[in-house]
Amino acid sequence: MLAQKTVVLGITGGIAAYKAADIASKLTQAGAKVEVVMTESATKFIAPLTLRNITGRPVITDLFEPAAEHSLEHIALAEATDVVLIAPATANTIAKLAAGIADNMLTCLVLATKAPVIVAPAMNDNMFQNPATKDNLARLKARGFVIIEPGYGRLASGKIGWGRLAEIETIIGTVKQMLGRKGDLAGKRIVVTAGGTQEPIDPVRHIGNRSSGKMGYAVAEAARDRGAEVTLVTAPTSLAQPVGVEVVPVQTAGQMKEAVAKAVAKADALIMAAAVADYQPKSISPAKIKKEAPTLTLELVRTPDILTEVKGDFLKVGFAAESEDVIANAKEKLKKKGLDLIVANDITSAESGFGTDTNKVTIIDRNGKVESLPLLSKREVADKILDKVVELIS
Ligand SMILES: Cc1cc2nc3c(=O)[nH]c(=O)nc-3n(C[C@H](O)[C@H](O)[C@H](O)COP(=O)(O)O)c2cc1C
Repeated sequence: MLAQKTVVLGITGGIAAYKAADIASKLTQAGAKVEVVMTESATKFIAPLTLRNITGRPVITDLFEPAAEHSLEHIALAEATDVVLIAPATANTIAKLAAGIADNMLTCLVLATKAPVIVAPAMNDNMFQNPATKDNLARLKARGFVIIEPGYGRLASGKIGWGRLAEIETIIGTVKQMLGRKGDLAGKRIVVTAGGTQEPIDPVRHIGNRSSGKMGYAVAEAARDRGAEVTLVTAPTSLAQPVGVEVVPVQTAGQMKEAVAKAVAKADALIMAAAVADYQPKSISPAKIKKEAPTLTLELVRTPDILTEVKGDFLKVGFAAESEDVIANAKEKLKKKGLDLIVANDITSAESGFGTDTNKVTIIDRNGKVESLPLLSKREVADKILDKVVELIS
């Protein structure tokens, strides 16, 4: 997604400037051409040499002596870049941007670019709470800048407060989202489910399954990165919430059905990657069940079948986690549930299925076309599924 994209990474003079090295590294590893532009103050916090070696590109620090090819570098770069990310952004640079001041390479470039500009502020909590900073950020927002709100936590002063640079994952996720906004799913609404539902037995126990949620989260992020408006209905997982995605947390199959029914009202596609329990306890004990009797029998009843019961004019994509006769079972499920697409995987493989970062799937569409994919990362599988979704939607 970041391959062949140019990202201008503006670094300004705050303590969090050292984190820009990690951002530059992650963007570069993801395939982006990262052009670092540093303010003079920033160079007092982190050496341009570090950024030059991480990105493999010259680092620009001076408006009048640009490091790269063009004498009008600020204009050339402003036109060439796909996105500008300022991380960390100081109160000072934010004030300059709000006032339209152009007195260094970074502020000139921002005035000259038509690319989206993302600003990730980081500063002392009083500086951040100051009405001047608040006002400046509101002005930038009103002008279409994307502001990544700083987080709460330990600040360089030792105090706890608002002003920490947002998490790196949030910053990278926002860059991906901005780059993908004109992708092949732009204007489409996609509902994704993820994780394993939990059916309570008593106040402390539940029936669960081994789904990690990784496949569904990868689909949600991939759809976001291709421009879709995404709602992720998720059973409990240990994964971080993807940025730029509406997240609806649920626990049980019943709650998931309710949330999905609401979310699909205006959706173009429903992608059911969640591992939904097939059975739930007939009744939930209001008190913790004591360990007294030598055996305990739980009576289970069927949970709602979300894919069959939720109706509407949208594409339905199901998953079939099978341990035997994978393709035959998946084909039958596709037919029985009236799906447009089914993604079948063999959960007995160590590299594929629950909890892994990779998956080996076969995608079967409503026309009977079968495509068996090699072992891929879950993100790559997600994109393959979305390629099919795009094909079937259009
Ligand atoms: C040790 C030190 C740490 C600083 N940390 C921050 C900071 O985290 N955020 C901020 O907005 N300003 C911080 N400042 C103030 C900026 O460095 C100062 O406003 C500078 O003019 C910013 O220049 P720039 O916006 O061109 O990079 C710090 C200053 C010093 C001396």
